[in-house]
Parts: sequence; structure tokens; C-alpha cells
Amino acid sequence: MNGPETRECGTHSFGQDIVTADNETVARPVSRVIPVDPFDLVIFGATGDLAQRKILPALFRRFCAGQMPKGTRIIGAARSSHDPDTYRALAADAIREHAPNRGCEDGTLEEFLACLDYVPLDASGTTGWTELAGHLTADRVRAFYFSVRPTLFGDLAERLHDNGLTTPETRIVVEKPFGRDLHSAQELNAMLASHFEERQIYRIDHYLGKETVQNLMVVRFANMLFEPLWNSQYVDHIQITVAESAGIGNRGDYYDRAGAMRDMIQNHLMQLLCLTAMEPPAKFEPDSVRDEKLKVIRALDPVLPHHIVRGQYQAVPGQQEAHPSYREAADNPRSTTESYIALRVHVSNWRWAGTPFYLRTGKRLVARSSVISVVFKDAPHSIFGQEGGRHANVLTIRLQPNEGITLQVTIKEPGPGGMRLIDVPLDMTFAEALGPEGEDPPDAYERLIMDVIRGNQTLFMRGDEVEAAWAWTDPVIAGWEQRGEVPKPYESGSTGPGDAELLLKRDHRSWRGIKP
Ligand code: BG6
Repeated sequence: MNGPETRECGTHSFGQDIVTADNETVARPVSRVIPVDPFDLVIFGATGDLAQRKILPALFRRFCAGQMPKGTRIIGAARSSHDPDTYRALAADAIREHAPNRGCEDGTLEEFLACLDYVPLDASGTTGWTELAGHLTADRVRAFYFSVRPTLFGDLAERLHDNGLTTPETRIVVEKPFGRDLHSAQELNAMLASHFEERQIYRIDHYLGKETVQNLMVVRFANMLFEPLWNSQYVDHIQITVAESAGIGNRGDYYDRAGAMRDMIQNHLMQLLCLTAMEPPAKFEPDSVRDEKLKVIRALDPVLPHHIVRGQYQAVPGQQEAHPSYREAADNPRSTTESYIALRVHVSNWRWAGTPFYLRTGKRLVARSSVISVVFKDAPHSIFGQEGGRHANVLTIRLQPNEGITLQVTIKEPGPGGMRLIDVPLDMTFAEALGPEGEDPPDAYERLIMDVIRGNQTLFMRGDEVEAAWAWTDPVIAGWEQRGEVPKPYESGSTGPGDAELLLKRDHRSWRGIKP
């Protein structure tokens, strides 16, 4: 049954062909729409940062793409006492700021806003729950997005249950952080399991929704070229870098209790590692994929203390005001939390024995750049002798920005003067591949929210996967806490602490550059 404020939202279609540089007309690949049935989506924390920056803009873009059918309802729920119209105005501002009118026709925003409702609600009290029930429709997919602080997850789950709002077609979407260690993750899983079945729980890691992260699986498993070489016999090592140029901003309160290990390695980089290292799943289906990822996590060796480098960013002299140091931003002058971490990690299984994975992530680095580099071994014998020098093929998967794939190959430097060899990139930028009018790839949240509605858990983390990731992470953190280690300072705008360079130098290797 729809509530009194309900307005009808329309369906918008979109999906013109594109004309390539060679004047060929091809279907626009990024806007192919797999329709879903009308659904109800409730956003708890509807006035919060994530809802404004990501969830509402993502829904709007899917609406523009014609994916949200007539009759879909999006119900914002939060403490603030908005009425539906003031909430729509708030949502409109957020969408204008975070989802510029990409490919949408005039008037689309108004049509989208007609799908929105708002219910003032107390997540841990009794207010608003009956009103919320009045906005929900029977016999359709019902998704509840927990975009609230984790301490409220339990309250929400309980109240949904106690107010009879859960149906077999109900799904809940849970944002990270999913616990802060194995114990808290287990408690959280157990609490959710007391109200929902695993098939109803969608634990988001937004990295899995990124286009190029999905492409990693396609590149690996849909091309014959790479998979035969994808093992320790041919791969020297793998580097996974997620560098950010931004600092911790105003999230100091959360971040200072988390640090880069909990905030990024345990989830985002772990997922990238899994997708890079896993065996081919039998099918692209939720449990096949997640079983293979879990095997990778369980095959991770404990990390040796001298294979860990932690750093904390300092302000550049003269720029303290605009770009404060980590400790100032965190408002904790004695903080020993890391804003940077580099690790040498081993996957102890048949495929990867002896091939290290180097992971690094940090804030306030020289550029925003997320890249996976698969560095192949040198050719076993150089027929060009000393003159040829050493050359390795490197497959670089750029996740962001400038999504694409580069294969570094060795060729002869053109011109006379002997056999001089140089490395050149075979470069495929996805934007170019999509044609001259290629657009930014869809935001991760667009894909993930629609997967929730479709009931596809492939790109979401299963409970045992999250717990296994914490089981590997906990001893690493406990180790440096016991040793009383403090992070090494590094200058904002640099590539991180010098010790991270040594981590690879000791192995006669070096990091790939961090380029925007
Ligand atoms: C979040 C982390 O999960 O991911 C942030 O909490 C980080 O600290 C962000 O900045 C990075 O996401 P993206 O999509 O900007 O690479």
C-alpha cells in the first residue's frame, strides 16, 4: 500500500547508438539496461553523507538509464523532521552536485523526485515505524539500505523484524566497516543471521562495483591470452596500489580508530587481491566466485614484521593551514594510526608459491591512482646479449582514474645503430574503446544497488569471507601494537615513507610510479 504522499514516478528510456571514429554505428555498451520489476528501497540515514553523495545520485542515474520501472518507491528515513517535499529538495541539491545531468533529458530530475518519499524515524526507538510500514507495498522486492553508523545495525535489524516489515523478498544492504576485528564481525554476522538469511544480506564493498574491477575478471577469464601465464612460473610479482591524494578530511574521528589497514586493506585491497589471485570459478555465480575468493584469503600467510611499512602524512612546510598533517586533521597530536601502509603478502598455494604480492595504500599521496600491475619474469635467455638489457612484460590494470589496461612489451628501438631494445605500452583506455562519445563508467553504487534489487550477490561479500579477512588482519595489527611501532612520517604529496621503497629494494624490485 502506498502512503498518502505518494506520487507516481515514470520510466525514462535512454540508450541511443554511438557513431565511432570510423563512422560505424554500434550500440552504446555502457547504457544497456536490464530491467527490474518495481521495488521499494528504504534508505536509513537518508540525510547522511553517503546517501547524498552516492546512493541518491546512483539511483538517479539508473533512473535516467531507464532501469527503474514505473511505481518504484524510494523512501528516505532518518531522524530529521523533513516532510517529503523538503526531502525532495535536499535530494535534488545532492543530485545536481554529485550526478551532473549525464545523458538525462530535461525534466528527468523532477520525474525521479516523484519516486521519493520521506519518513522521520528513530532507528533505535519507536517513532516512524508504523508510518514506514504504510509506505511499503506487498509482494515486491523490498530493500533496506543501512547507511548509518554500525552501532545502529542491530537496532535496525531488530525493529524491522519486530514491526513485521521483513518479507521473504526483503534484502538488507550493509555498509562497511563490517566490524573492526574478527570478534566484532562475528557478533555482527550472528546478530544479522538471527533476523535474516544469508541470501538476504548484501555486505557492500564498493570496490567490487567498479567497472574495471569487474573487468579484471573478464580480462582474466574471457581471454585465452593471460590465464596460462597467470602463475608463479611466469609472474615475478604483483603490485596493488590504491593511492589517494586527499587526506582524511573531516572523518578523523572514524579514521583515527581504523587506520589504513582496517579502512582499506582488510576490504578493498583484499578484494582486489582475491580477484587477481583466485582460481577460475566454475560459473560467474555468487557462491562460485565467493568460494574462490575465500580460498585465497585462507591461503594468505601471516605477514612478517619486516614486510610491513606504516606511515603517517606530515604537512608540507608553509601549507599547514590548507593541508594539515594527519595528526592535526585527526585532532590527535599523539596519534599512532597509519594513513599509509605497504605490505608484502604471500598466497601459499600451488599457483602463487614464491610470487609476492605487494600491497600499498595511503592518503595525501602524490596522485589519486589505483592500479594493479602484474610484472612478468624476464625472458629466460636474452638472444640480444648484454646490449638488450633486462626487460619484463607488465600488465597494468588501471582502476581509476583513466580506466584501462596497458601491456608493456619490448620492441626494437627504430632506426639504425644495432639492436637497442625499448619497452613500449600497448594501451587500451576504456573511454576510447567506448567511442568518441564514451562516458565516465557508471559509478560502483549504480551497479551494486541494482544487483541488490535483482537479487545477485556475486559482487557482495559473504559472511565467512569478511570473517576470514579479519582473521588474517587481526594478528598483523596485534603484532605492531605489541611491538609498540609508530608509523614513519611521510610528506604530503609524496609517494609515501622511504621504508616502503626499501621493502621492494631488498627484493631487487621497485614500485611502479604513482601517476594520475
Ligand atoms: C572508503 C574508505 O571505503 O573508500 C575511504 O573508507 C576511501 O577512506 C574510499 O577514501 C576510497 O574510495 P574510492 O572509490 O574513492 O577509491
